[in-house]
Amino acid sequence: MIGLIGGTGIDKIKDVEILRQNDINTPYGRPSEKLSFLSYDKHEFIFLPRHGESHSIPPHKINYRANIWALKKLGVELVFSIATVGAIDRKVKPGDIVIPDQIIDYTYGREHTFFDGDLKPVEHIDFTYPFSEELRLKVINFAKKNKISLIESGTYAAVQGPRLESAAEIDRYEKDGASIVGMTCMPEAALAKELGLEYFVICPAVNYAAGRADSKTELSHETIVANSEKIMTKVFNLFINFLRNNGD
Ligand code: HPA
Repeated sequence: MIGLIGGTGIDKIKDVEILRQNDINTPYGRPSEKLSFLSYDKHEFIFLPRHGESHSIPPHKINYRANIWALKKLGVELVFSIATVGAIDRKVKPGDIVIPDQIIDYTYGREHTFFDGDLKPVEHIDFTYPFSEELRLKVINFAKKNKISLIESGTYAAVQGPRLESAAEIDRYEKDGASIVGMTCMPEAALAKELGLEYFVICPAVNYAAGRADSKTELSHETIVANSEKIMTKVFNLFINFLRNNGD
């Protein structure tokens, strides 16, 4: 079963059949929203909007553990995650879609592991390559065949939010090697790996990062939301193809 985690601009999805919803509870509390079993073209998947359906949960308050645990419990094996980002690298522009292959985690104070001694013995997972290379390549190859342009690699700087960054912070992330910046991919990616899920993320760039190009002097949340909505059709098409080619 495929799980789709949606972010800004994809809190609700249209043109799909709702089969049922599951208001699951977990040992870590409630997920962001009821998990929806949806069907598109006879292919079933589970959808979870990480900010809740009314987009009311800020990145640092998302119960990432409950979200990932619930997906696993309901039978998800492959996770297609969508997370909007700001563009740090000059090669990335708003409207581009990046499939990152690396992460630098700058978040703090988030419940970030299942191995905290409560319910499981401690295990130190390998995180050399945070994302499923197999799933990344599937989407990259489909995009190539269909002449959909993608940026095939990149380093995602995971920041705490909910405020946007200062220009100096963005300069620092760039020096560290990050090409894009977002608030939600961690601890989500690590938790998915801890539970043995195949996980990767698609990152639509929706703005220049703070201090860069159009965001030189100011960056508004409204710009981010408006651009996120514009790009989601393209992202959703990638998802539909992924769904068709991975069965259920
Ligand atoms: N910074 C952090 N998170 C984001 C941004 C950004 O510029 N754009 C979309 N999510």
